Amino acid sequence: MLYKTLIRPILYRFDAEKVHYFVANTLKNVFKIPFAKSISKLVFQVESHKLERELFGLKFKNPVGLAAGFDKNALLIDEMAALGFGFVEIGTLTPRPQVGNEKPRLFRLPKNEALINRMGFNNEGVLEAIRHLKNRQSDVLVGGNIGKNKLTPNDEAVYDYLYCFEKLYDFVDYFVVNVSSPNTPNLRDLQEKEPLTYLLKELQKANQKKVKQKPILLKIAPDLTDSQLDDIIDIVKITEIAGVISTNTTISRANLESELSEIETIGAGGLSGKPLGKRSTEVIRYLHTQSKGAFPIIGVGGIHTPEDAQEKLAAGASLVQLYSGFIYEGPSLIKEICKHIAKKS
Ligand code: FNR
Repeated sequence: MLYKTLIRPILYRFDAEKVHYFVANTLKNVFKIPFAKSISKLVFQVESHKLERELFGLKFKNPVGLAAGFDKNALLIDEMAALGFGFVEIGTLTPRPQVGNEKPRLFRLPKNEALINRMGFNNEGVLEAIRHLKNRQSDVLVGGNIGKNKLTPNDEAVYDYLYCFEKLYDFVDYFVVNVSSPNTPNLRDLQEKEPLTYLLKELQKANQKKVKQKPILLKIAPDLTDSQLDDIIDIVKITEIAGVISTNTTISRANLESELSEIETIGAGGLSGKPLGKRSTEVIRYLHTQSKGAFPIIGVGGIHTPEDAQEKLAAGASLVQLYSGFIYEGPSLIKEICKHIAKKS
């Protein structure tokens, strides 16, 4: 309540990306105050066996996670755990640090409770993230979302993903192969059947060489056609990866209430938030139904209420993740969703 009536209106007066760093820094500082984490846990966390989930060999305290892109450099894992997330996905990380696209590159569409971003995998690189991962204290599950550097051509992309996989292997609980961001030129071409099968097979080969294999998931775009989704189902089967994250942001601008001129002024980027919800649920339902529930799905896209989360679960998702809903609704959304799910279980 306090967040939506007081904090959010102040934050929204400033540039969206600057606010992101300001909030991240503030969270870091607030949680340095003695007992702040314990108090936050008391206020935000819902403890219930009904929320626990076991999936691809991992035990999740609750099924609500932080989606990739919010904590790209693994700086806020303990803070996000204290706010009640059951798992935190870091990244997208690339082998070398990169600055991403020119600013401004993150825009709010408040009327639509949406965001448009063309960040372009700005991140400090996988080695810096590992430095931060070594300092984490909480035992919350962490996913490593990996990608390729902008200058790496697609036919060499596999080496970037393998590098990130090898480096991060000891520090994360599961991996996410991101080939679905619209903000790295031609990245989404890697979602085609042949290159994607090759990429995932190579990662699985590296995984097989480990004493203990870690789950590898694939994150897909909501803009895939049914026949491309059929390919994804085949690819999951062939490569035996652990599951799919559905979905990333969309390049579509359908169903927006904003003026066309406003949307045109913002320009290219991935749309997230409320307007994405319906399509991302459709993709989850399609994958779940057509594959006959052959693999777990993490549902993400437009979850702004407990009912939105429930809809994703009913469509076939086993876990959910938040990004835009967390920005628009504040941290209490995590608790509300957890309470709702516990009640329904
Ligand atoms: C993202 N998202 C994202 N996804 C990913 O796999 N790697 C990334 O680096 C990013 N970066 C990123 C930055 C920003 C500013 C946003 C808004 C989103 C996508 C995100 O994880 C999620 O899939 C979508 O935003 C859809 O969920 P929501 O936002 O509708 O809850």
